[in-house]
Amino acid sequence: MPPKSHIKSVAVVGAGAAGAAVAAALKAENYFERIQVFERRETAGGTWIYDAEPDPLPLCPGKLPPDTDPALEIPEALPRITPPVDQKRWTKTPIYNSLTTNVPAIAMSFSDSQFAYGPFVPHHVPRQYVENYFSIHKTDSFLQLNTTVEDITKLPPSKDRSSERWKLTLRKHDALRRVDIWWEEEFDAVILANGHYAVPYIPQVIGLEEYIAKYPDRISHSKKYRAPTIYAGKKVLLIGNSASGHDLSLDLVGVAKAPVYQSRRSKARWDGDGPLSGIAWKPVIREYLPSGRIVFEDDSYLDDVDAVLYCTGYQPSFPFWNAQANGRPLWDYAANKLVGTYWHTFFQDLGTLAIVGVPRTLTFRSFEYQAIAIARLFAGRNALPLPPLEEQEQWEAERARRTRAEGKKFHDVPWDEGQTIEWLDGLFRIAGLGTIRGEGLVPPALSPELIWAVEHLRKYPEEPSEHEEKGSDEVHAARAEGGWVVVQREKLPLGGVLP
Ligand SMILES: Cc1cc2nc3c(=O)[nH]c(=O)nc-3n(C[C@H](O)[C@H](O)[C@H](O)COP(=O)(O)OP(=O)(O)OC[C@H]3O[C@@H](n4cnc5c(N)ncnc54)[C@H](O)[C@@H]3O)c2cc1C
Ligand SMILES: NC(=O)c1ccc[n+]([C@@H]2O[C@H](COP(=O)([O-])OP(=O)(O)OC[C@H]3O[C@@H](n4cnc5c(N)ncnc54)[C@H](OP(=O)(O)O)[C@@H]3O)[C@@H](O)[C@H]2O)c1
Repeated sequence: MPPKSHIKSVAVVGAGAAGAAVAAALKAENYFERIQVFERRETAGGTWIYDAEPDPLPLCPGKLPPDTDPALEIPEALPRITPPVDQKRWTKTPIYNSLTTNVPAIAMSFSDSQFAYGPFVPHHVPRQYVENYFSIHKTDSFLQLNTTVEDITKLPPSKDRSSERWKLTLRKHDALRRVDIWWEEEFDAVILANGHYAVPYIPQVIGLEEYIAKYPDRISHSKKYRAPTIYAGKKVLLIGNSASGHDLSLDLVGVAKAPVYQSRRSKARWDGDGPLSGIAWKPVIREYLPSGRIVFEDDSYLDDVDAVLYCTGYQPSFPFWNAQANGRPLWDYAANKLVGTYWHTFFQDLGTLAIVGVPRTLTFRSFEYQAIAIARLFAGRNALPLPPLEEQEQWEAERARRTRAEGKKFHDVPWDEGQTIEWLDGLFRIAGLGTIRGEGLVPPALSPELIWAVEHLRKYPEEPSEHEEKGSDEVHAARAEGGWVVVQREKLPLGGVLP
């Protein structure tokens, strides 16, 4: 039976890994009449594009994207040509020179195309890979580069259309003429693949704003970090010990003044019982004093710090989402989650909108599952319908309740508790199998080799015993050699998945 979906045109926001997976899945359906992937950068690649010169970094402690990344004012009467906008848009990426991937290549790459090599590769490998993926699937013709989606507004059903449509306001920067070209386009469905590591977050701390005003060059964020050279001989304090804090502190050892101080709020997966050599741990900062003294929660302090590097992550931003016209916000910053979502991918009240890439989990590979499930659903070729609205609402409410009670994040889908497989399996079931004529991509199986790699290969040692096996000097040495570790594990937490 050919599908009967009314969705014939689909807009995709973003040409990173998520956009690449979505484009491939939509094309494979051989059903949609118009697919456009809008990307504000000059090339596909998303997060993995390296910008040698970082964006200037406005420092706004405690401020969230509705303040730090607001919507642009859209000119009236489109189409129209205007001088280029000068509002800060956070388009550059946080990639630094020494960055390598932290997920084994076999598990990070899409199922139908491997990374050039592995297991942990320099940042240019995934960048080239994402760009190539568009060509491999002949979806490069869908790309509208240099084009920012500035507004997404839902249009009500019209006389000839029983269902909602979406009006996108688009802005293309014409570098030759140094102008912005604005226009509007309508689509039956929209898939958001806009990423969520663009707008940096710096927490509010007593005295920080005054400190920034008095010492304007001292505070920075990992988004702006490229290399340790500018910190040579300086007394540096990093805040945060997640992936950026861990990586940057190691990058600075041996270049910045010893020790490199690292302020930690909680124990990270890779933290042993004490810091690696060259690093000194500090607790959370309590206050910045006008003298320049930085006081910590245990009353200890540091004077004469030359540089404070916030590695405190990012906040998702959807400046293009017209909450007023669409009658609801997309993201709840207080709850740190999408509003009205189902399975981190679909929207309970908006059947022609979907999003890929929000969960913190296996990245590229999970985008592939999301993309295939969405493409098949939008083409009307899915195997299972989405559950009734009450069941979707129940899923969201129950997950919100449970993650809140456990102090976890709504969109974190960890591997170790089997949650990743359960989540991917849900998408697998919605998508179903391909057709006898081969239309549509089929959700990939998770091979035993992939599962082994996720569970045994680590960029850094993680358990205390692994730290003991590899002392801190060895960790530095392994890192210098581009080394990685194989972790011995007796227990596989995914009973039944492996023989
Ligand atoms: C420093 C760092 C290191 C990382 N390392 C790893 C790693 O080792 N392994 C791993 O699996 N993951 C890693 N990640 C996570 C990484 O973000 C994902 O791997 C993946 O690249 C996310 O893909 P995405 O397509 O969802 O988002 P992105 O790669 O961010 O792509 C989104 C795209 O949307 C575009 N866009 C946004 N808004 C608009 C708009 N309004 N109009 C048009 N275009 C728009 C952006 O320009 C961008 O190109 C890392 C992230 C960071 C920040
Ligand atoms: N390939 C790589 O090696 C690599 C390198 C860098 C980044 N990445 C990826 O990039 C993404 C972002 O990573 P990230 O490390 O930049 O951000 P992140 O994972 O969100 O971590 C933020 C860090 O800031 C701390 N923090 C947040 N608010 C704080 C506060 N108010 N006071 C003190 N500490 C606070 C957090 O502590 P808590 O843990 O206590 O919340 C955490 O250590 C992740 O997907 C990551 O995997 C990958």
